[in-house]
Amino acid sequence: MKEILDAIQSQDSTAADFAALSLPESYRAITVHKDEAEMFAGLETRDKDPRKSIHLDDVPVPELGPGEALVAVMASSVNYNSVWTSIFEPVSTFSFLERYGKLSELTKRHDLPYHVIGSDLAGVVLRTGPGVNAWNPGDEVVAHCLSVELESSDGHNDTMLDPEQRIWGFETNFGGLAEIALVKSNQLMPKPKHLSWEEAAAPGLVNSTAYRQLVSRNGAGMKQGDNVLIWGASGGLGSYATQFALAGGANPICVVSSPEKADICRAMGAEAVIDRNAEGYKFWKDERTQDPKEWKRFGKRIREFTGGEDIDIVFEHPGRETFGASVYVTRKGGTITTCASTSGYMHEYDNRYLWMSLKRIIGSHFANYREAWEANRLIAKGKIHPTLSKTYSLEDTGQAAYDVHRNLHQGKVGVLSLAPREGLGVRDQEMREQHIDAINRFRNV
Ligand SMILES: NC(=O)c1ccc[n+]([C@@H]2O[C@H](COP(=O)([O-])OP(=O)(O)OC[C@H]3O[C@@H](n4cnc5c(N)ncnc54)[C@H](OP(=O)(O)O)[C@@H]3O)[C@@H](O)[C@H]2O)c1
Repeated sequence: MKEILDAIQSQDSTAADFAALSLPESYRAITVHKDEAEMFAGLETRDKDPRKSIHLDDVPVPELGPGEALVAVMASSVNYNSVWTSIFEPVSTFSFLERYGKLSELTKRHDLPYHVIGSDLAGVVLRTGPGVNAWNPGDEVVAHCLSVELESSDGHNDTMLDPEQRIWGFETNFGGLAEIALVKSNQLMPKPKHLSWEEAAAPGLVNSTAYRQLVSRNGAGMKQGDNVLIWGASGGLGSYATQFALAGGANPICVVSSPEKADICRAMGAEAVIDRNAEGYKFWKDERTQDPKEWKRFGKRIREFTGGEDIDIVFEHPGRETFGASVYVTRKGGTITTCASTSGYMHEYDNRYLWMSLKRIIGSHFANYREAWEANRLIAKGKIHPTLSKTYSLEDTGQAAYDVHRNLHQGKVGVLSLAPREGLGVRDQEMREQHIDAINRFRNV
């Protein structure tokens, strides 16, 4: 691995130098183990501890197939999907690997007794498989996490609709929380030059998801002036949704749960911030009964920020706990766009407020290659910034996932893979200086 790292850190290495590097037989990777899938049986979600299920193992380098690339991973990040994998909820991800393994001779590689997880990376292409022309060894890249087969016509208008659509490092093996990752070449995108490895790896999954969900015509199609209610506005998804709303001339109404998180939203430029803890909203009287009076109180508070207007778009992901309120506070003809259900997926809302007021609920999931590319382009142009708050070593990934599970983090949490320390990999120092305050906004909070 030292040879690979030296080649990456030497600015003089050519594509031929990278192509001539010999690949190691094994690499260090963050895994969960199939024979531990029942280890948390009977525990409450909150008590399932990723530090117990996440391992750092030496695993063999996978065989490289057509249309694929092996990438030396300098840095990765923790997404909530790694939390789900590590607590084996809502299902064990080994069921995804088994199903993928049945698809073809080549996909059998993915069905293993361990799962190398992680859906983000920044690094350098080491090898490309047959049929890859757009990328070469030595290219500095980030990878988005959409894996598709595209053998069916269904996915050819919008690749997210491919029947064999999967999230790399969650529904496939050989993910990014490792020293080497296996991706399809149509997951690759240029690494933003003004960012370090860990900063470049941080936005990927959440930035692309927020872009589709809020900005793309496949999602809410946000426009100038829209009032956008953003749950978890300083979290992984929300910190990008807030930036998209601000950069797109919309009016974000940010919901967070502490004064520190409220300050982060203000530092990003948001003026309307609601601290849901301080204001004590209790949308549920008990496990089965919601409290419409609390929806109304919440709606009244929103109107104080908007000059009496209601919400055009709700950026939803907490799910069961907030969905009733989200449907209620949306204006007539407005949109609730949802990509998740962190607090529970059996949602309840009063349908009278939906149909009588002609509101729409839009389901959104990750992003197609074009959307991921557009979202990454905004990062590369310095219009949207990474929201990295803290970086861990590969050894401490369990702790990083624990922090995200327990909502102890801000923005995104990074992980160094091959990069020996933070701050490496910046190729455009001048551009970096222009945006340095925004890049560092989430640090040391
Ligand atoms: N479908 C997709 O493609 C996709 C992509 C990315 C993520 N997701 C899913 O989206 C969810 C959020 O991901 P993330 O990366 O943004 O996670 P995150 O970094 O943990 O941020 C989520 C934020 O939501 C807020 N929140 C959590 N529970 C809440 C509740 N019960 N009521 C109100 N607010 C609550 C919290 O902010 P405050 O405490 O400050 O309010 C939290 O920080 C996860 O379930 C994840 O799996 C789905």
